[in-house]
Amino acid sequence: MRTTVADVQKMKRAGERIAMVTVYDCASTLIAERAGVPILLVGDSLGMVMLGHDTTLPVTVDDMERHAGAVMRVSRQALVVADLPFLSYATVEDAIGSARRLMQNTGVQALKLEGGESIVPQVRRLVEQGVPVMGHLGLTPQSQHQIGLRVQARGAAEARKLLEDALALEAAGAFALVLEVVPAPLAEAISRRVGIPVIGIGAGVGCDGQVQVWHDLLGLFEGRPPRHAKQYAQVGAIMEQALRSYVDDVKSGAFPTEAQSATMDAAELQAALA
Ligand code: KIV
Ligand code: NA
Repeated sequence: MRTTVADVQKMKRAGERIAMVTVYDCASTLIAERAGVPILLVGDSLGMVMLGHDTTLPVTVDDMERHAGAVMRVSRQALVVADLPFLSYATVEDAIGSARRLMQNTGVQALKLEGGESIVPQVRRLVEQGVPVMGHLGLTPQSQHQIGLRVQARGAAEARKLLEDALALEAAGAFALVLEVVPAPLAEAISRRVGIPVIGIGAGVGCDGQVQVWHDLLGLFEGRPPRHAKQYAQVGAIMEQALRSYVDDVKSGAFPTEAQSATMDAAELQAALA
């Protein structure tokens, strides 16, 4: 049975912490579901980790549709959420149009939008139309040219605004909320104050759940991962080693062997070449 929005809300009430991870393609989806991850996010972080952009800003609804489609073709278990990309929900009409494309063309169960009070009309309308909406506050990367990439809401006024935004999203019908790179004590307080599950990333252990980017968790990139990430494996290094062995084996003739090759009757070959 596929995880539902109601299931993750039940997890919050039961005090069961919720794990969420990004996926962007078939292989990652199958692995994450075998590992029992209850919520998968087709994040617009795919702009960076899949498409090589510096930010999420160039990501289009087309991009999201292609990757969410790949995920949904193989997903059977998780609750799958997709990001609405930058400027694809500037108005209520835009939000409905983008939601129509993503939900009807891919089958994802829910959408995630960045922003607080200013996008309440969009959230309300989507929810009225049957679209489960996940909010996203704090370090919202689509606004990075305004807010930067530093820790958000350290001061009282900003922290107050974050709480108000969280309450506004809940009142508008959001079923859950991501809090990105905000002080842990504030994230914990907001998690207690709202009834919907709060999924943190760089927001401390006091949230109802955690979300991480696939490549950060698995060590698929060179260079320093973000401070909030923990590398659970160095999969990139394992892949590199495997590919080195493959190159060596091709060069030396150790690959392929008979096991990877087809045979043919010697007489047939002779006849063919005569
Ligand atoms: O796009 C993404 O990966 C995200 C998560 C980091 C929350 O929005
Ligand atoms: Na995102």
